[in-house]
Amino acid sequence: MSIKPIIHIPDPLLREVSKPVERLDEGLHKFLDDMLETMYDAPGIGLAAIQVAEPIRVVTIDVSRDDEENAPIFLINPEIVWRSTIPSLYEEGCLSIPGYYAEVERPSECKVEYLDRDGKKQLLHADGLLSTCVQHEVDHLNGYLFIDYISKLRRDRTIKKFAKIAKQSGKPSGMAAHVEAPMYELDDVAPIAMAREEDGNDAVS
Ligand code: NI
Repeated sequence: MSIKPIIHIPDPLLREVSKPVERLDEGLHKFLDDMLETMYDAPGIGLAAIQVAEPIRVVTIDVSRDDEENAPIFLINPEIVWRSTIPSLYEEGCLSIPGYYAEVERPSECKVEYLDRDGKKQLLHADGLLSTCVQHEVDHLNGYLFIDYISKLRRDRTIKKFAKIAKQSGKPSGMAAHVEAPMYELDDVAPIAMAREEDGNDAVS
């Protein structure tokens, strides 16, 4: 297994629509293992293949708590087939937008159809944090990011900051943000970030 570099905004790849997986072979299994290791290392609770620059419809998720055993889920070609009409609010973060968090409202429950690691068709009824995570990751496969749900002003400001960091580093994508200090303005998101630490919510995906 190996850890893959995670791309950051404003890398244009993050806005691409990923292609369905057509063949489950050894190569894909290895890729899934690498994704899982990359996600645990980050650390995050979800990762879409596009975040490691691979535009295929593959997601890894593990929302188990630190004191629980790992419970990885592999979603291949996931499709959300049902969404609850009841909204819920979660503080979200994203490994492709490191250090930035914002509250996002999404349907509190969803049902997702997908192929598992063995190519078997599965239907998962997700609620709570898992529901939010599934929706966040499936959004990635369609080129959407959680900042698309916040105000245009805050979104533009966030993208601008990351663009500046990428430019200063002289690297082609947003990769440079790996080594930078937090990019958010304290008066902007610090209260949310602090609340996040208190309740142990770790919705970074
Ligand atoms: Ni994300």
